Amino acid sequence: MRFVSRFVLSLAVLAPLALDGCKKSPPAPMPAEATSGAAKQDATHVAAIKVKLGAAQPMTGNIAQYGEETTNGIKLAIKDVNARGKVLFDLKIADDKSEAIGTVNAVRKLIDIDRVNVIIGSVASTCTMAAAGHAQAARIPMMSSASTNSKVTTPVDQKGNRTQLDYVSRVCFIDEYQGKAAAIFAYQDLGSRKAAIMFDAEQDYSKGLRDVFKQVFEQMGGKVVSEESFVTGDKDFGGVLANVKRSAPDCVFLPAYYNQVGIILSQARGKGLECPFIGCDGWDNDKIFELAGKAARGCYFTTHFSPDDPDPMVQDFVKKYKEAYQRAPGALAALGYDAVLAVADACERAGSNDPTAIKNAINTIKDLKVVSGVITLDENRNPVKSVVIMKTLESSTEFLKRWTP
Ligand code: PHE
Repeated sequence: MRFVSRFVLSLAVLAPLALDGCKKSPPAPMPAEATSGAAKQDATHVAAIKVKLGAAQPMTGNIAQYGEETTNGIKLAIKDVNARGKVLFDLKIADDKSEAIGTVNAVRKLIDIDRVNVIIGSVASTCTMAAAGHAQAARIPMMSSASTNSKVTTPVDQKGNRTQLDYVSRVCFIDEYQGKAAAIFAYQDLGSRKAAIMFDAEQDYSKGLRDVFKQVFEQMGGKVVSEESFVTGDKDFGGVLANVKRSAPDCVFLPAYYNQVGIILSQARGKGLECPFIGCDGWDNDKIFELAGKAARGCYFTTHFSPDDPDPMVQDFVKKYKEAYQRAPGALAALGYDAVLAVADACERAGSNDPTAIKNAINTIKDLKVVSGVITLDENRNPVKSVVIMKTLESSTEFLKRWTP
């Protein structure tokens, strides 16, 4: 591959020289008609950039709903981008099985077998973090649509040294923003002074948010009265909830994914723990209501996007999404859509499908309007974006407010 591209490159460099040599005896002019026809075609017809786009997504496993929604958003955006004719995406989806090792395998397959130019992936921070180094080593840009842990793009080793993965970026905000938004909301809007925290000890997402929430909430004068952990896949939260209830909190911060949130809420209400729970983007799926029923109401969570946003671009997206999938899009669909728009923008500016050229263009994305806001990537390849706060009703969610960092 490398040899071929170098060979093509050297031909391209040599070609103008060869033409130069012929300058003194130009070819006989073509008939006028033919000349203008050809010139017209050259001026208007710029060949589309063909890009093999990999998507490492949780299509099976404990957060499979996220994978389905994200790829729905990705496919819708590809339809829009391909119709514009400047970039032509060819999508390859690889299932990361909602697991770290599965994500490494999915990313390796996309790079080594499918030979993709760029990857969108993954969702769970723990998964993206496991595979990010592989994309970096292979020099294939990887953009996460939804992984919010701050270490995704800049991993920190045990000694505290930070590494810059310049091939790894994202279109979502980072947990410093949503954890802070949640803590301020709990303290100021709900008037909570005592918060309990329940977190998933196997997920970097959950642990990162626990730390940010605790720091900000206590800085404001609140107190974290209990911190209880569980692990991915747990089904019985009786012991943990009993400890939480004993600590008599005003609210419970629960940074976890929808399937666990649904079970925890139904068990909590059954145990008489009635205070509001506050969650994060992991709550953004209607499955919560299937699992918890009415026990899910009266809670709040931070997320990226609301389909109620009157912004014309959002409403156009919501309309197209509903036509295609017969339901309103959630945050994952919006972020999948946005990741494709961001990659398309980079490919257009790069004018090429070369992975390093795409990476350079991704890292300078500026003021790009997408459905989840406006994206400018900072020096750590993270966008600074506002956070949406939603409220849960009987069996649906409602937009409450927007918090801007
Ligand atoms: N932010 C979550 C993570 O980093 C993933 C997620 C994003 C889940 C958006 C739901 C909605 O693990």
